[in-house]
Amino acid sequence: MIEQTLSLPCGHTLANRLCKAATTEGLADPKGRATAAHQRLYSTWAKGGAAMLLSGNIMIDRRYLERAGNVVVEDGSGIDALNAWAEAAHVGDSQLWAQISHPGRQCPRLVNLTPLAPSPVQLAVAGNFGKPRAATETDIQDIIARFARTAGVLKDAGFDGVQIHAAHGYLLSQFLSPRTNRRTDRWGGTLANRASLLLEVVRAVRADVGADYPISVKLNSSDFVQGGFTLEECIQVVGWLSEAGIDLLEVSGGTYEQLEFFKAHDPDEIRDSTRQREVMFLKYAASIKVAANMPVMVTGGFRTLAGMEAALQQGQTDLIGLARPFCLDPDLPARMLAGTLAALPVPEDRLVLGKGWWGPNSTSSTMRAFNNQAQAGWYYHQIERLGDGLAPQPELSPWRALLGHFRRDFGRAMARKRAWSQRPQAADLAS
Ligand SMILES: Cc1cc2nc3c(=O)[nH]c(=O)nc-3n(C[C@H](O)[C@H](O)[C@H](O)COP(=O)(O)O)c2cc1C
Repeated sequence: MIEQTLSLPCGHTLANRLCKAATTEGLADPKGRATAAHQRLYSTWAKGGAAMLLSGNIMIDRRYLERAGNVVVEDGSGIDALNAWAEAAHVGDSQLWAQISHPGRQCPRLVNLTPLAPSPVQLAVAGNFGKPRAATETDIQDIIARFARTAGVLKDAGFDGVQIHAAHGYLLSQFLSPRTNRRTDRWGGTLANRASLLLEVVRAVRADVGADYPISVKLNSSDFVQGGFTLEECIQVVGWLSEAGIDLLEVSGGTYEQLEFFKAHDPDEIRDSTRQREVMFLKYAASIKVAANMPVMVTGGFRTLAGMEAALQQGQTDLIGLARPFCLDPDLPARMLAGTLAALPVPEDRLVLGKGWWGPNSTSSTMRAFNNQAQAGWYYHQIERLGDGLAPQPELSPWRALLGHFRRDFGRAMARKRAWSQRPQAADLAS
C-alpha cells in the first residue's frame, strides 16, 4: 500500500503514501529569509523519495515567531530564496508544501515579551513565555489577511501546497480551545465561534490560491489537557472543514502544556509506551475519518513498515506522516518502498537527562520541560547537520544537545534583534 499514489480533491496526485511531517528548521537568516541550508536539507530529503515534504513553521508575522531562526513570509521580499528552496526540493516525485503558522502565546520571551493570543492566558512552561495580550478585532482581521498573503507568496515561489497549522497549541489551536480562548465576542464561547477563525483563514487562503491548489490543515485530535479542545469537538470541526473544502487533514494532538506529539519518556516505561506510540493518534483517526470528506494523514509514532501497512489497509489513515525518523534516515522512503527497511530506529527512547528528579517524570515541571527541550535540541542538531551537508550524529548526548540548543537559540535571537534594530541596508531596500 505505501507505494500507491493518492489523488487529492484539488486534482493533485501524491506519488506514494510516505510524507515528511513538519519539522521546524531554525535555519533562516536573521531577517527570516530562507537560506542555502534549506536547499541542502530539502534536496537531501527529496532524494529520499517521500511523496510530500512539509516545511517547518513558516511564520506569517515577523513579530511573533515559534523560535528565532523561523522563515518569515509577510510579502514577496524574500521570494528568490523561497524559489531556490522549492527548486532544490523538486527532485524526483517529491512535492514541497509550506506549513504556515502563528504561534499565539507559544512565542518565547527571547522573541517577544508580549505575545498575541485569543485571551491573556499565559503559558507557564519554564518561565519561557510572556503574558500575552488579547487580539483585537483589527488584529484578527490582520491575521486572516496575513495567512492568505503568505500562502499566495509561497504558491508564487513554487511551493506545491500549503498547510495551515491549527494544532499543537499555536494561535489557531488556542482559538479552538476553551482553556485559552475566554473571549465573549464572536470569536469565543461556542465551538462554532471558536472555530470561526480557522474557517475564515481557510476561506481566505482558498480565495487567494484558487480551487486547484492543495490546502491542508493540521489539527489536534485532542489537546490532552483539562478544559482543552476535545475529540468530540475535533470531529465537529472536521465536518466544517469538509464543507469548507480542504485537500488533506493531518491529525496530531497535544500542546506545549502537554507535548503529546513529542514528549520524553522515562526509559523504565519504554517497553509499554513503545507499543502505544506506534498508534499514537490512530485510535482517534477512525472516528475523525467518518466526518472527513478529504484524505487524512496521521502523524506521530509510526516506526515499523508493518504498522504503516496495517494502518493504511484498515483505512485508519490515507497517508503516513513521519517527522523524527527523517532526521536520522533521510532516505527512509526509498528503502521502505524497496522493502529493505522494516523498522526505524527510536533514539528518542534514550534522549532523557536522567531519572527521578532529572527525568521526564520529575515532580519539577521545569525539569520535565528541560527533558523535552533536550529531545528537541537533539533533533534540531541533526537537522542542522543535514542542512550543512553532513551526516547525522546519532551518538550526540542529550545534555550536549540541550546546551547546544540553548546557546544557538540565544545567538539566533540576538542576531534577529540586531538585524531588525539596524537601519535598512541598501541590499534590503533593493530586495
Ligand atoms: C525537530 C522537530 C521539529 C518539529 N517542528 C514542527 C513544526 O514546525 N510544525 C509542526 O506542526 N510539528 C512539528 N513537529 C512535530 C512533528 O511534525 C510530529 O507531529 C511529531 O514529531 C510526531 O511525529 P513523529 O513521531 O513521526 O516524530 C516537530 C517535531 C520535531 C521532532
